[in-house]
Amino acid sequence: MVVLAVKPLFTILVVSLALLLAVVLLWPPSPFFQSSLPSNSPLGKSDIWSIRRIVEWRPCKWWLQGDLNVLPVKSNGYIRVDCYGGLNQMRRDLCDGVGIARLLNATLVLPKFEVAAYWNESSGFADVFDVEYFIQQMNGFIKVVQELPPEIASKEPFRVDCSKRKGQFDYVESVLPSLLEHHYISFTPAMSQRRDRYPQHAKAALCQACYNALRLTRSLEKKASELLEAIPKPFLSLHLRFEPDMVAYSQCEYSGISSASMNAVDAARGDRKPWTGELARIWRKRGKCPLTPNETAFILQALDIPTNTNIYLAAGDGLMELEGLTSVYTNVVTKSSLLNGEDFTSMHGNTKAALDYYVSINSDSYVATYFGNMDKMVAAMRAFKGLYKTLLLSRRAFAEFTSQGFRGKDLMQALWKAHREDYVMGRGSALPDCFCEFKL
Ligand SMILES: *[C@@H]1O[C@H](CO)[C@@H](O)[C@H](O)[C@H]1NC(C)=O
Ligand SMILES: *[C@@H]1O[C@H](CO)[C@@H](O)[C@H](O)[C@H]1NC(C)=O
Ligand SMILES: *[C@@H]1O[C@H](CO)[C@@H](O)[C@H](O)[C@H]1NC(C)=O
Repeated sequence: MVVLAVKPLFTILVVSLALLLAVVLLWPPSPFFQSSLPSNSPLGKSDIWSIRRIVEWRPCKWWLQGDLNVLPVKSNGYIRVDCYGGLNQMRRDLCDGVGIARLLNATLVLPKFEVAAYWNESSGFADVFDVEYFIQQMNGFIKVVQELPPEIASKEPFRVDCSKRKGQFDYVESVLPSLLEHHYISFTPAMSQRRDRYPQHAKAALCQACYNALRLTRSLEKKASELLEAIPKPFLSLHLRFEPDMVAYSQCEYSGISSASMNAVDAARGDRKPWTGELARIWRKRGKCPLTPNETAFILQALDIPTNTNIYLAAGDGLMELEGLTSVYTNVVTKSSLLNGEDFTSMHGNTKAALDYYVSINSDSYVATYFGNMDKMVAAMRAFKGLYKTLLLSRRAFAEFTSQGFRGKDLMQALWKAHREDYVMGRGSALPDCFCEFKL
């Protein structure tokens, strides 16, 4: 019996080993040989990811291993962080809010996640993130409560408006008095706040909240991992931004896009007129103009990313001029192509954003065309997880070189050099607040 059971297994093992060996020896462009060649693409030798990096960002030890101050015995009161906008913007505000609450020796109430009317939905914090996990992970960093004591629970928090305060301001000076007076306050962190002056335990709370305490709810994670499984591997997740409102907001001029796209952009412009003439050229050269899908495809080629690469489009539904990408990169998949229609149409914007986030922090590589809230979060989480094939395409380099008259192969070569430099130096791949540069 035993012999019979072992023998087939052994045979399979031997056959597999032999096959593996054959593949390794016979596969024409072996990656082992490739990476040892000098990398002077775009001559078709090696893609951007095979370049040796010198610097990478890693989460700083001071918060990860945390030699933390003990939490204050007495709390100064309860704080609820109110978050608005897109999922990743809300998350950014939550991170800042946790830091501020710790700065003020306050107890944290679960944040309020409210969404822009634009999205028409109601996902609160608990609909997106795992509450139990958050509370457990924040243990020792800041006190978090799910329920308020009865004498406070009946009241709405006193709202402190931080948006009206100018420039840098001191939270201890300006917010602490309200907290002490009302015992329960809410606020939305001011965007321009500098965190570098926070004491380390407050920064540690921020970093822990942002990068080590947020996990999607079980049901959302299940959906996201189903989506991840459906994507052909290995794959690149591409965050493309070329929606009408994005383009309108940029105030850039585009020639050579379809009249349908042009109309969509004009409809989104409102009072915000595009720059024209010399001003438009200066604006573009400063890297202010979103890359079109066509330009994106061009830069990806300049980075020697093969045109048969599996690409997951981590993007909203309203992308324009997508043929500019898909006519070159033919293996592009989207959420709507992979999820069944019923799932997809019933999904809220927040949920879709959460799926893109999840797929992008688990993809083999991630490329962003614009450094927005999602890209910052994804780049940081990838660094947190030790995934370094992350790159932000340079709109500025593209505009600069094209304005200097570079075209075709020369343009590719110039773009390769610019991005190679960025990749080697780990530029744009993580946020400095919670991450430290590490020389390789
Ligand atoms: C917070 O508590 C620490 C000691 O636990 C104290 O040194 C600090 O001044 C307090 N800060 C505020 C704003 O209450
Ligand atoms: C917003 O949601 C409600 C209820 O889910 C729906 O009836 C309505 O049509 C939606 N509005 C828009 C603009 O999508
Ligand atoms: C994309 O740009 C190239 C030039 O780089 C041009 O030849 C081509 O027609 C464009 N394709 C689309 C779909 O816009």
